[in-house]
Amino acid sequence: MNISTHPERVAAGSTAAPDNAAASGRILVWDWPTRIGHWLLAGSFAIAWLTAESESWRNVHVASGYLFGAVVAFRLVWGLVGTRYARFSEFVKSPRAAWRYLTSLLGPRPQHTVGHNPAGAWAIVALLVLGAISVVSGWLTFNEVGGELFEELHEGASNAALAVVGIHLIGVATGSLIHRENLIGSMFSGLKRGAANAAIVGARGWAGLLLLVWVVAVVTFLMR
Ligand code: HEM
Ligand code: HEM
Repeated sequence: MNISTHPERVAAGSTAAPDNAAASGRILVWDWPTRIGHWLLAGSFAIAWLTAESESWRNVHVASGYLFGAVVAFRLVWGLVGTRYARFSEFVKSPRAAWRYLTSLLGPRPQHTVGHNPAGAWAIVALLVLGAISVVSGWLTFNEVGGELFEELHEGASNAALAVVGIHLIGVATGSLIHRENLIGSMFSGLKRGAANAAIVGARGWAGLLLLVWVVAVVTFLMR
């Protein structure tokens, strides 16, 4: 259970230790692959978008798309074998849990989670799935397989991913304000508010390095 609480805002049913300065501080939550992977996803997605329409930028578009795809592939594996808060089993909850989280934000006791909140988790899943569809359909279009069909799919999945990015950013801003916590800073430092015993042990620097080697290898191989 990764629900912790906010000062004076103890989530109903929470069994976690009170999340106040005395009982908890800033603890390590995001490992290196999660943090490096995130900013690679955000950067490569932005570059792919900015270069999507121009023929002369096609190589940059394709390379950034491959980079995005390589990170998504790594993230899918890391979601199974990574540290606690990176695991899908830890943060993917039922739609009902997501709804409960969202409605709690309107009340006096907003639920606070140490890892991803149950609503944000659905945006994360959608971004990974739509991103993967965009990369595969982009590759098929680029290699002139399937004609119009994959071209349409590529544009549709990419547009849908952009819409989810918008929702993702609204969610990040809302969560940061309501919980008075800098979630963007946490994606850099890896640190979030939580009880000491909820911290992950070790930031997995070696896996961060592995991710970098992996993405360079994939992009170099596919662009050769
Ligand atoms: C500048 C733009 C962006 C900012 C400021 C941002 C910020 C964040 C933050 C703060 C989190 C952690 C949320 C939490 O605390 O639960 C997060 C998670 C995530 N974001 Fe973004 N994001 C941005 C763009 C994107 C883009 C473009 C994508 C993909 C298309 C993306 C995909 C994800 C994913 C997959 C996660 C989950 C991280 C993981 O567990 O691996 N983000 N983002
Ligand atoms: C993050 C991943 C990606 C995003 C967000 C993305 C986004 C887009 C978008 C929005 C378009 C439509 C541009 C227009 O209005 O004409 C487009 C076109 C295209 N993309 Fe991607 N793309 C991604 C990855 C890829 C990859 C990996 C490849 C190839 C390996 C690729 C190949 C193409 C090609 C060939 C076109 C032109 C299709 C046409 O002739 O209309 N894309 N992309």
